Amino acid sequence: MGITRSITGFFGKSPLDEPAKIKSDTEKHGTTLLRPPSSGPLKKKEAWWALKPEVAARTHLFSGLDAEIAEKVTRRVHTGRIRSIKMPESIRVFFILLSRKDLTADFIAEVLNNAPDVPAEISSYIMTNAGASTGEAPKSSAEWKALLENCNLKETVHEIFTLQAKKLMTSPPHMDWFDTGALWDHSLATALATEHLATMFRFGNPLLAYATALFHDLGHRVVAWTMQAEIPDDYEPPIHLVRHLCNNLHEEAGMLVAKAWKLPEAMAQVIGNHHSENNSQDKLAALWAILQVADQSVLRCGHGEIEAPERKPLLECESTKYLHISDDNAESLLGPIPGLAISATI
Ligand SMILES: [Fe+2]
Ligand SMILES: [Fe+2]
Repeated sequence: MGITRSITGFFGKSPLDEPAKIKSDTEKHGTTLLRPPSSGPLKKKEAWWALKPEVAARTHLFSGLDAEIAEKVTRRVHTGRIRSIKMPESIRVFFILLSRKDLTADFIAEVLNNAPDVPAEISSYIMTNAGASTGEAPKSSAEWKALLENCNLKETVHEIFTLQAKKLMTSPPHMDWFDTGALWDHSLATALATEHLATMFRFGNPLLAYATALFHDLGHRVVAWTMQAEIPDDYEPPIHLVRHLCNNLHEEAGMLVAKAWKLPEAMAQVIGNHHSENNSQDKLAALWAILQVADQSVLRCGHGEIEAPERKPLLECESTKYLHISDDNAESLLGPIPGLAISATI
């Protein structure tokens, strides 16, 4: 089938190991991925999936300690008192690079040379990619440039940024009741799908779209970590409480972090509104629509399953309408995104 073939081609392009895992999951589950997989270590999640969102949204679901936790965490997010995550210097460097559409060896060399601390894995990745023997990291713009001239610049920035983002999103603090791996799987799958759509719809800077998508659900982790501050030691919060708070508060929490990190305003706004049905700001509409279609398609495939897909059929969503995606062109436009065309009508 065309879809299967294009799924493989789509995810096969990244040298990272995660896309390969996604590919094998897709092959293993086939069309059952239209629903979340219900085997393996997902027992707790099954309870949540069975819970209708409209029921879960009612706070009277919680009582006693859980109701107290829900109230405190909600108030914390609404008043901006979240436990934030510090942006590492390595990520800041990449946001400087993302600000330029046309990457040149000169520009990247200058940015890396001026960065106060370039992690060893970045220099060794570039040295390996350039075919240089791994030794001392470059010490001047000229040395960086000499290496970069032997690399595919876009691919290098893309892969190093991904590795740094993974490090950031999967590093401590860990919470036993929060699945960091699932969040990363979902974020990466959504970012690849977003980048693909950005290229297809000729969005100005596909790398910026990719970066936005990579962090679009960072708020889940921020909410969980904020929750941890309100949870007594040795208390494991029930999964439906975690899901309820993360789902309802992650856009707002993600936007707070994006603003604290001084990310471009467009990124912060799209992160803060990626589940909204309407985007009122015209200049952000393309990025919002592309990310939302990618996100919803990935959720319908069960990748990372950190959120339930919106209940509306995909082709009825404002974002697909904005992109003029219809029954007639869905397969040809979106076939490479796993599950999208086939799940468009569910
Ligand atoms: Fe989300
Ligand atoms: Fe998402």
